[in-house]
Amino acid sequence: MSDKADHDLGRDVMGEVSRRAALHGVIALGGLWFLPMAGCERPLVASVPQPDPNPHPSSSSPMEKEPAMPTEYTLPPLSYAYDALEPHIDAQTLRLHHDMHHAGYVKGANAALANLEQARKSGDYNLVDLYSKKLAFHLSGHLLHSLFWENMAPVGKGGEPSKPLDAAIRAAFGSLEAMKAQMSAVAVSVEGSGWAVLGYHPIDQQLSLLQCENHEKKAVWGTIPLLVVDVWEHAYYLKYQNKRADFVAAWWNLVHWNDVSARYAKAKTLTALR
Ligand SMILES: [Fe+2]
Repeated sequence: MSDKADHDLGRDVMGEVSRRAALHGVIALGGLWFLPMAGCERPLVASVPQPDPNPHPSSSSPMEKEPAMPTEYTLPPLSYAYDALEPHIDAQTLRLHHDMHHAGYVKGANAALANLEQARKSGDYNLVDLYSKKLAFHLSGHLLHSLFWENMAPVGKGGEPSKPLDAAIRAAFGSLEAMKAQMSAVAVSVEGSGWAVLGYHPIDQQLSLLQCENHEKKAVWGTIPLLVVDVWEHAYYLKYQNKRADFVAAWWNLVHWNDVSARYAKAKTLTALR
């Protein structure tokens, strides 16, 4: 394969990151477009190359001046203590969930990217389907968890839906309570492991509720997640055992409506995506 072909394929593989600027700060993956997340827009990648403060035009070609693609994702820190979500999410669950499970998805995403890079270098694409599947699963897991942490706040700290968000919810679902009832049902009825997702689609400018299996299945292209709840057993089993519905009911006490409202306001500005 030619150097140019290698270069072009590399851009395709890293498109989730590189398209961020082109899509007004939105990361596209698995059918969902993610808005930048605090602790995630920066550290989604570990090393963003900085401009050379002392360029040497005579010793570098135009191609060499082009910034290299970011190479690694990193685990964003929580913005609250492990016990901050008690009693609804216990400290042990939160610690394991963030430090072990989420970290595993970050590691898996980086491994998939490394394997794809190696495939490009060797020209051996026999396992590209496996690596592509791994990338979709682990990177979607990383993005959803990063959003999940920011979607939650200690009891009494999450605020209320903004007026625009409340109006959009009422327009789409009839009432806030109806939306919550549907989202709870979506979450409880996930077959196996997955998520419930409240999202905004800039094409029809409507909110909708999606059910996601694993981290990437059943997504709708272009939907921007605003509020997500993780119903993998690792999210609740230590405290709630098999009572997923009890966990989902308790989780509503932790929703960071100020964060969700800010995401909705940002998503509404994505007019260029229509
Ligand atoms: Fe999880």
